[in-house]
Amino acid sequence: MKLNLPEPFTHLVLYCRAGFEKDCAAEISTVTASLGVAGYVQAKPQQGFVIFHCVGDDGKDACWLQSKISLNALVFTRQWLAAGPFLDDLPPTDRLTPILDAVDGWPQVGELWLEYPDTNEGKQLHRFCKKLTVPLRKALKAKKVLSVQENPALPRLHLFFLNGQQCYVGINLVGKGARWLNGIPRLKFPSQAPSRSTLKLAEAWHSLLSKEDEERLLQPGMKAVDLGAAPGGWTWQLVSRHIRVTAVDNGPMDTALMESGLVEHLRADGFTFEPSKPVDWLVCDIVDKPARVTDMIIRWLTSEWTRHAVFNLKLPMKQRYQAVATALDRLHAACQEAGFNYRIVTKQLYHDREEVTVVVLRD
Ligand SMILES: C[S@@+](CC[C@H](N)C(=O)[O-])C[C@H]1O[C@@H](n2cnc3c(N)ncnc32)[C@H](O)[C@@H]1O
Repeated sequence: MKLNLPEPFTHLVLYCRAGFEKDCAAEISTVTASLGVAGYVQAKPQQGFVIFHCVGDDGKDACWLQSKISLNALVFTRQWLAAGPFLDDLPPTDRLTPILDAVDGWPQVGELWLEYPDTNEGKQLHRFCKKLTVPLRKALKAKKVLSVQENPALPRLHLFFLNGQQCYVGINLVGKGARWLNGIPRLKFPSQAPSRSTLKLAEAWHSLLSKEDEERLLQPGMKAVDLGAAPGGWTWQLVSRHIRVTAVDNGPMDTALMESGLVEHLRADGFTFEPSKPVDWLVCDIVDKPARVTDMIIRWLTSEWTRHAVFNLKLPMKQRYQAVATALDRLHAACQEAGFNYRIVTKQLYHDREEVTVVVLRD
């Protein structure tokens, strides 16, 4: 979709987990270079975001980039926006006027989101953003920049605040942004789940599978293997969908979970374990080298021991983007060689720490 903007949008703002700016920057540099876009990245440690500046005059601006890239193709980016103006001196007594001036002449947007980095300082802006949203929404509607009714068929306006005085003003093209404010899904910890890790698998399914995939691919009566299962947070997610689980771990499993009758616990090595019959899902949360985990997942997929897989790649201290890229290249090559129809989505989820989550789906 070509937007009729008064000025080209020259920055792509990419939100990431604080501490992963370098990886987010390396990834967007690789992707933009492959699209032939001239630009450079600005990334400061621990700021929770990265800026890609488009410098070409060939029309390949931030909106063009957003139209070409899927957010799900970016591992280290949770949310993003194609930004026009950077407002760096908002007067505390009247922030509305400069914001309204900045969007003068813009095409109509269907929603307004005020966001901030996922850092300790950023989180302080939660109330500020909430408070500003109501009058800003009203003023934008009066100016006819924001539609009267929320309209997801129009671009979404984003203000990304760095503090009370500074913000980027930009948009997400239709269907291009994350579905959650700041790219963070708010998931409630299920009180009966045996570990907080349960939220990693819940988030993976919630954010990386479409609604249709979730209904079709996670059905009662299916079978799964959980490698590195103890105490059972991931197994709990499977069991809550009435999926039978073989839980492989030398450690103890949660007693209440075992009483569900849907779990068989095997004290065995996850790297050498082989299932007696193929299963629908392999899930794996073992902390080990990405290359070793990737080898094992490839063996499961190409031996057709499982149809789908979800696993974590624990990241090394350095060259984290490179480690992920290498693992994914190998996984793609193996699936292609096996002649599969498959999809792979990889993300550093909100509930992931020094790791990323990979979902492999066979169609
Ligand atoms: C991060 S914990 C898993 C947490 C689990 N997903 C949950 O939600 O409760 C990693 C687990 O992997 C297990 N583990 C490590 N190496 C393993 C191996 N070679 N085979 C099986 N389990 C292993 C550990 O005993 C540990 O329980």
